[in-house]
Amino acid sequence: MRTSLRTLLGSVVATASVVACAGKVEPAPGKLEPNGTRTEATHGTREYGNGCATEYWAYELSSDYACKLSTDLIAPNGYRSCPSLCGDSAASCSVSSGSDTEQRIWRTADEPCKPTAAFLLCTKDASTRCVMEGRRPDGLVATGRDAFRDVGCYFAECAFLEGAAVIAFERLVIELEGWGAPAELVERARRAEREERRHVELATALAHRFGRAPAPVVVGEHAPRSLFAMALENAVEGVVRETYGAAAALYRAEHAADPEVARALAEIADDECRHAELSWDLARWAETRLTAAERDAVRAAMREAARELEEQLGDEPPRELVAIAGVAPAASAKRMVSGLREAWASIAA
Ligand SMILES: [Fe+2]
Ligand SMILES: [Fe+2]
Repeated sequence: MRTSLRTLLGSVVATASVVACAGKVEPAPGKLEPNGTRTEATHGTREYGNGCATEYWAYELSSDYACKLSTDLIAPNGYRSCPSLCGDSAASCSVSSGSDTEQRIWRTADEPCKPTAAFLLCTKDASTRCVMEGRRPDGLVATGRDAFRDVGCYFAECAFLEGAAVIAFERLVIELEGWGAPAELVERARRAEREERRHVELATALAHRFGRAPAPVVVGEHAPRSLFAMALENAVEGVVRETYGAAAALYRAEHAADPEVARALAEIADDECRHAELSWDLARWAETRLTAAERDAVRAAMREAARELEEQLGDEPPRELVAIAGVAPAASAKRMVSGLREAWASIAA
């Protein structure tokens, strides 16, 4: 298995030849009417700490519609309206009193609404696009920062995700020990944790070199969970995301033009291949301890994660990221996913 996954990752990367950037895909601008019509959007960036801004689109609202939306958006599950209001690439949306502020209009249905100049702000959560640096622990709070803003922001986001992966492996080690997993698997998870710490150092050094700093890693409380819950997470974060992350890391290590960056990425890529292998072995071990219904649920989660991954890879990285950091252009990223599809299908069948 170990050799074959590595070989597969190598060939997947080899077939994902560089394709020229096609430029950013921008959503159709628009003023938002209650009937869903959009025209005349204001497009801008919202600054986050250390300058890694996130793009937003502001749609002017009529006062009546602003009042309606401001209550819709704070209702339980109100955020389900975001994709329908802002399009699928939006991660968050809010009704704001101004297009360039974060001042949201929060109100409940029984409070009077007095909108002045109201806007619907559609914010693109760019923090996860194309940046896959290993498994994310349950309850991880995304930074919302735009990893594609510049090279420094990209490595700052990488360092953030590497820090998140440290926590994921810390938890995994404790859980595996608790379930009496084979010592060999526990030891590999422990080694992965150490390697992720090293990746934090490498990525942080690169972020600093390019003038940025990582955001602190914030995760929610972690309650004890079942082996089934771990297997579900491993299917998504490990078998799908870490495996793609390993291929992407190999690609970057091969294509980064900056020698210092290439050296750091080569070290990370080698480790990430091992982490991908671990996730597949974990999946096989966990399978033997799950019920048939649980195994089906794990496979379904994996298929869904592979589908979602493909959707996330549509954003074109800026040219400097492609050149300096070797980040795969969208078409190459999609080609890598296609190459991995067969491997995922073999386990999800
Ligand atoms: Fe990793
Ligand atoms: Fe890593």
